[in-house]
Amino acid sequence: MVRIPEPELMEDPTQVESYDQADFESAHSFLIRKFQDRLPQRFVPESILDLGCGPGDMSSRLYSQFPNANFTFLDGSEFMLDRCKKRMGTLVSEKRKDKIDFKKELVQGFVPESPYDLVFSNSLLHHIHDPFEFWGAVQRSIHNDSFIFISDLIRPDSLTSANQLMERYAKEESEILKKDFYNSLLAAYRIEEVKEMLEITRLDSKLNLEPVTDRHWICYSKPRL
Ligand SMILES: C[S@@+](CC[C@H](N)C(=O)[O-])C[C@H]1O[C@@H](n2cnc3c(N)ncnc32)[C@H](O)[C@@H]1O
Repeated sequence: MVRIPEPELMEDPTQVESYDQADFESAHSFLIRKFQDRLPQRFVPESILDLGCGPGDMSSRLYSQFPNANFTFLDGSEFMLDRCKKRMGTLVSEKRKDKIDFKKELVQGFVPESPYDLVFSNSLLHHIHDPFEFWGAVQRSIHNDSFIFISDLIRPDSLTSANQLMERYAKEESEILKKDFYNSLLAAYRIEEVKEMLEITRLDSKLNLEPVTDRHWICYSKPRL
């Protein structure tokens, strides 16, 4: 099945509201466990970048794990970033607030002042029309010892499979969220396509790529020898 792109930014207030209210506990806690399992032992990043942070569900999980790090939460949608600020505002103490940077910016134009120890991104790549712009932003944001963790959806084989996944995993969600999830599945990249991206950018020497559920892949730094 060919890829059907969806708009990059999530800017419609109703869409943002339903995404913010959605119950991602099961999928997100699973992906965070995979992330934790793959982190090198005793790895404590001082600086963390969350690309396409959205309303901050993953961001808040990263913050809980590394409360002493400096964070950059980046999203091109003002509505999404506002939600993220609100969520983080309830977690971050007054004296830590200057360690958190919220950037309303497109990944395509993002040039960090300095590289990050951890670059994280969940569910952003499938929004990006030219995926190499996403990988370019990742490459600009790392140093030799950075840890990278990227996760996203896998495009199913057919519209029927996409429908089945939507019914299986978003049955209880609002109609807007169900439609969003369905569109995201159609816009997602296949594992083979992500593999090819890594080869072209030569990130394949640095990163492992694996499917972890019937609808998700993860990509993360290889252990250093
Ligand atoms: C599906 S949400 C994922 C949010 C969050 N990472 C999560 O796991 O819940 C994708 C987010 O990426 C943002 N986004 C899409 N294209 C972008 C771009 N080119 N630059 C920056 N942010 C972008 C959207 O606005 C949206 O907030």
